[in-house]
Amino acid sequence: MNRIIAIDGPSGSGKSSVSRLVGQRLGFLHVDSGALYRIMTWQCLEHDIDTANPEAVAAFAAKVEVAFEARDGRVVYRVGGEEPGDRIRTPEINAHASPVATVKAVRDRVTAWLRDMVSFGDLIVEGRDITTAVFPDTPARFYLTASAEARTERRRLEEVKKGIANASAEEVKASLLARDRIDSTRKYAPLRKADGVIEIDSTELTLEQVVETVLAALPEGWVQA
Ligand code: DC
Repeated sequence: MNRIIAIDGPSGSGKSSVSRLVGQRLGFLHVDSGALYRIMTWQCLEHDIDTANPEAVAAFAAKVEVAFEARDGRVVYRVGGEEPGDRIRTPEINAHASPVATVKAVRDRVTAWLRDMVSFGDLIVEGRDITTAVFPDTPARFYLTASAEARTERRRLEEVKKGIANASAEEVKASLLARDRIDSTRKYAPLRKADGVIEIDSTELTLEQVVETVLAALPEGWVQA
């Protein structure tokens, strides 16, 4: 039986960097579940589906085909033979992804994809509902948080790196908080801290300290000396 580390938390809480590094240390494949919701959103926009219309999004969700492959320490996704890359990381996708992720048919499809990935090997899966809905029974579940200011600053730095930093800190914060609100108040599998998960507030911690905290909290035998 392959092992699963589940990590949830809001935007900018450090899930991706932590999951990548912990995955590298342990030889677990990194799975970015948010990228699958972004792919769904990108495909809706490419096919002129109104993302504010849940029925239209639900009908379309069944048609989206994604191919999966384990490579370079992660599960990579392809749509029509191509990796989406930064096409799913634009401000436009940021704005449309939360409403698309409220649609049950979208969530059911992505959840089925994620559960199938267990056949690839040991996984570290990050998202919003991994500890509560996708893999609630795994013994390694974490909830990452950070202050809104710290999360805004991280997101802004990422956008600067990508060369798409044309928003002010206030705008980045407003967009982040708007997404948090939709993600944590939606009807199906909202973002929430489940009972029994290990919460890590990364506001005052370095990336390395968060990684060490996760490693130290894993079940016995998962970390090889
Ligand atoms: O982590 P991210 O910003 O790439 O996520 C994109 C969107 O998908 C965001 O609105 C939250 C949503 N999401 C979700 O609903 N459930 C997940 N497991 C992962 C992401």
